[in-house]
Amino acid sequence: MYQWLVVLHLLGLIVFVMCHGVSMFVAFRIRREPNRALVAAFLGLSNRATQAMYLGLILLIVGGLGAAWNVGWLTAPWVIASYVVLIVALVVMWAVGAGYYYPLREGLEGSEKTPRLDDAALAHTLSTSRRPEVLGVVGFAALVILVWLMVLKPGA
Ligand code: HEM
Repeated sequence: MYQWLVVLHLLGLIVFVMCHGVSMFVAFRIRREPNRALVAAFLGLSNRATQAMYLGLILLIVGGLGAAWNVGWLTAPWVIASYVVLIVALVVMWAVGAGYYYPLREGLEGSEKTPRLDDAALAHTLSTSRRPEVLGVVGFAALVILVWLMVLKPGA
């Protein structure tokens, strides 16, 4: 049972990383893109990939929690550390990632709440925002720490 739950956990990790890689590349690709239709298309692709990413994230969490529960590790220090790292990564992603790219999508079209960004304002926000770097550094560090915790199980 434990091994099948670990397999589920790793399948979730594969789906998560494959899908989220789309958003990672899009974030850097659109920075110097002058064609707003292309920016919108890339952000649409990232949005689609995000939906599938959540499926991977759910499998990853269910498999991980299930495996830890199966062998009585739910409160082991390295498992608790992994909850903290994942939660920090999620909060940063929602605040710095979703908090920027969803309003940007609205600004591309213009809505009642968000005025339409003209080409100059769009080029300015895309080229000056450091959010892709922040997301990349925090997200990559979180993935490295999570793999380290999972493989080495410090303190176990
Ligand atoms: C443990 C690692 C990571 C986790 C758990 C994670 C999770 C998430 C989540 C939950 C979102 C919000 C999606 C939404 O509902 O809109 C998000 C957005 C995003 N993340 Fe990550 N992420 C991770 C690593 C990374 C890395 C390494 C990058 C590299 C640049 C990155 C780039 C982004 C971008 C660009 C968005 C915005 C996507 C969009 O709205 O199109 N993430 N992430």
